[in-house]
Amino acid sequence: MQDVGTVALVLTDAPDMESLGLNAVNAAKAAGARRLLWFSSFGAKRDNQARFSRRHPVIDEAVRASGIPYTILRPNYLMQNFTFFYGDVIRTTGTIFLPLGDARISHLDLRDLAEAAAAALTEDRHINKTYDLSGPEALHTGEVAEQIGAATGRAIRYQPISVAEMEASFREAGLDAWFAEGLAELYGWIRDSGLGSEVTDGVEHLLGRKAKRFRQFAADERTAWLD
Ligand SMILES: NC(=O)c1ccc[n+]([C@@H]2O[C@H](COP(=O)([O-])OP(=O)(O)OC[C@H]3O[C@@H](n4cnc5c(N)ncnc54)[C@H](OP(=O)(O)O)[C@@H]3O)[C@@H](O)[C@H]2O)c1
Repeated sequence: MQDVGTVALVLTDAPDMESLGLNAVNAAKAAGARRLLWFSSFGAKRDNQARFSRRHPVIDEAVRASGIPYTILRPNYLMQNFTFFYGDVIRTTGTIFLPLGDARISHLDLRDLAEAAAAALTEDRHINKTYDLSGPEALHTGEVAEQIGAATGRAIRYQPISVAEMEASFREAGLDAWFAEGLAELYGWIRDSGLGSEVTDGVEHLLGRKAKRFRQFAADERTAWLD
C-alpha cells in the first residue's frame, strides 16, 4: 500500500477473511492511508449464528480503531445475486430454489452500492460513519419470482428448499465443503432471524434519492433470465 492515499476494501468470504481484513487495515495504517472504505455486511454482529456474518464486525471494529478517516458500508442481500449467482438456474428451470421460507428481504441494488461508495469517498460528511444499506422494500421471495416473471414475460416460481438441500447443491456445483456449509448456514440465519427485512434510509442519506426497487432491477436485467 506504499503511496496509496485511499483504500477501498472488499473481502471474499474465505476461511481466513478475518486475518486478511485485519492485515489490510494494519497495512493501510502503516502506509499512512488518508481514507479507508470498508464493505462490511448488513446486520453483521459478533454473536450471529452464521459464521459468515461474524467476521465482518471484527473488521468493522479494527477500521474504527485504525485512526484512518473511514466509512463503513454494510450492504444487505444484493439483487444481483439473482443474476450473477442464480441467473442460470432461473433461466433454465424458471425456478428460484432458496431456503428462505417466508422471509422478507430488503434487497439492495449493487448499482446503488457502487454510487454510495463513490459518495462516501468524495464527500467529507461521510467520514467516520457507518451505514446499513438496504433497498426500499422487504420482499418475499415469491414476490421476487413474480417480478422477474413480469419483466421477462415468463412464468417464474419460488421453490423453498431446506438448508441441507442448499448445501448439497452448492457442493454439487463444486464449492468446497467449508464454503458450501457456511453459505447455506447464512441463508438459514437470514430466514430465521428476520434481520434482512429491515428497511434503512442509508441510500437516501448518501445519494439524496430513494434506493432502486427490485422491479426496476428486474426490468433492466431481464435478458439474464431469457434464452
Ligand atoms: N452478495 C451479497 O448479497 C452480499 C451482501 C452483503 C455483503 N456481502 C459481502 O461482500 C463480499 C463479497 O461478496 P460477493 O457476494 O461479492 O461474492 P464473492 O464471491 O466474495 O466476490 C466475488 C469476487 O471476489 C473475487 N474472489 C473470490 N475469491 C477470491 C480470492 N480468494 N482472491 C481474490 N479474489 C477472489 C472473485 O473473483 P473471480 O470472479 O475472478 O472469481 C469475484 O470478483 C463478502 O465479504 C460478502 O460477505 C455480499
